[in-house]
This record gives sequence, C-alpha cells and structure tokens, in this order.
Amino acid sequence: MRLDGRTALITGAASGIGRQAAELFAAEGARVVVADVSEEAGRATVAAIEGAGGGASFAATDVTRSESVAAAVAHAEERYGALHVVFNNAGIFPGDDTDPVETPEDVWDRVVAVNLKGVFLGCKHGIPALLRAGGGAIVNTASFVAVMGAATPQIAYTASKGGVLALTREVAVSYARRGIRANALCPGPVNTPLLEELLADPAARARRLVHVPMGRLAEAHEVARAALFLASDDAAYVNGTTFLVDGGISGAYVTPE
Ligand code: NAI
Repeated sequence: MRLDGRTALITGAASGIGRQAAELFAAEGARVVVADVSEEAGRATVAAIEGAGGGASFAATDVTRSESVAAAVAHAEERYGALHVVFNNAGIFPGDDTDPVETPEDVWDRVVAVNLKGVFLGCKHGIPALLRAGGGAIVNTASFVAVMGAATPQIAYTASKGGVLALTREVAVSYARRGIRANALCPGPVNTPLLEELLADPAARARRLVHVPMGRLAEAHEVARAALFLASDDAAYVNGTTFLVDGGISGAYVTPE
C-alpha cells in the first residue's frame, strides 16, 4: 500500500480525476479529505470510499476562499492527526473562455481564482501542515496547455495553468530541503465532465483527437494513477517536474493516420 498511514487532501474530489484519485489513494491506504464545493457529489465520493472499506471525510471547500481552504486543512489535521499529501486538483473550464479579445473579464477573473489562486491557497495553508507532519508531497494540476499553444484558445484557462506550472516549480525548489516535494501534473485531454460540453460536438472532438498519437482521450483513472505516483514515495526523488500524462501529444509533430 503506497499511502499507508498517510492523510491526503484532494480538492475537486467530487468528480472526474479528483474522484478517481480519492478512491485510488484510499485503496492505497490513505485517509482522504474530499474537498469540493459540490456537497452532494463529494459525499458520494466519501460513500464510495467507505463502501470499499477505506477512510474518507467530506470538507465543504471553495478553493477561491482562503478561510475555506484553511478550514479543510484544519479538518484533515483534527480528524486524522496530520496531513501528508495535498493534491490541488480543482479546476474549471468555462465555455465562454476563448481568445483574449472575446473573453469577458469576469470569466478571466473566475478561472484564475479557481485554477491558480486555488492552488496558491492550497499551498499557503497546506505547506505549514505538511511541515508539521515532517514533510510531504504536493501535486498541483496544470495541463498540457501550460506547455503548448492551441489554436482553439481558452486564454484564461491556459494562463492559469501556466501559472500553476511556474508556482509549482518555485514551491518545489523552496521547500525541497524541508522534506516537501511538489510536482505539476499535466494531463492531456481527459474524458471527464470538464470536457463534456466541448466534446459533445463531434467536429470539436475530432479536431482535438487528430493531435493525440494514441487516438483517444485519457480516462480519469489513468491520470489518477500518475497523481498517486507523484504523491507516494515511489516518486521520492521526483521534484519540480512538469509531469506530462498526455498520450504523447507534446512529443508529436505528425500523428499516425
Ligand atoms: P471535473 O469538472 O470532473 O471536476 C472538477 C471538480 O472541481 C468538481 O468536482 C468541481 O465541483 C470542483 N470545483 C470547481 N470549482 C471549485 C471550487 N471553487 N472549489 C472547490 N472545488 C471546485 O474536472 P476534471 O476533468 O476532473 O479536472 C480536474 C483537474 O484537471 C482540473 O484542474 C482541470 O483543469 C485539470 N485538467 C483536466 C483535463 C481534462 O481534459 N479533463 C485536462 C488537463 C487538466
């Protein structure tokens, strides 16, 4: 069991990658704090974990609010004694986030608040707890769009993920000697509710799939396994990386027919 005796806080654990990670981390022995704005679905994640014999609890959390994230960290420490893993995974991808000319400023602000400030707050409140535990691991979710440009722009989303990448590197370098590793998980397109709206359009789906050498989207559990690796001692010397789980997209020039 890779996370035996550890406590992990996962934001956005009510859905998609976060939910799969919560179930996987619990199956690997972690006690999981399911931190999400969505209470009903978050409690369903907890019920699934408990149904499988694992330990988890729900913390109603809005990652854009400092006191809310601080409360989730306090919940983890009070309930389980210490916090060892922070997976800053919550993110949004609104349809009206397009190019810099068209994207409304309030959409920019909301995307940056969730995707970038949310990760900052997870580090701000999570790092002191990890230090109290004697060290730990941070996994921050960026995206392959943090390292590649797309001519189907989502300018706020892309900028927020670039920020996550840079922020994570700096955390990794700053805290390495105090026992904290930090890595940026960069998934390619994943089959989750986040992309549902976009990929419902067959032309939009095909336009993206043509760039994926493997010819398919990732499944959330495949990304969760990478998060587990980064969160566990299997990755003991992995720090500050741009950890791409993209089916080869970022390595491709021409993809197979
Ligand atoms: P999802 O939409 O299935 O799940 C996101 C979760 O975040 C939901 O449970 C939602 O309630 C929660 N959330 C949203 N705003 C929140 C807030 N303010 N506070 C707390 N929780 C909040 O999305 P998915 O696909 O699982 O995405 C997870 C992460 O992976 C995100 O950061 C996303 O940007 C990133 N990602 C996803 C990709 C994809 O193709 N699905 C590709 C690359 C990165």
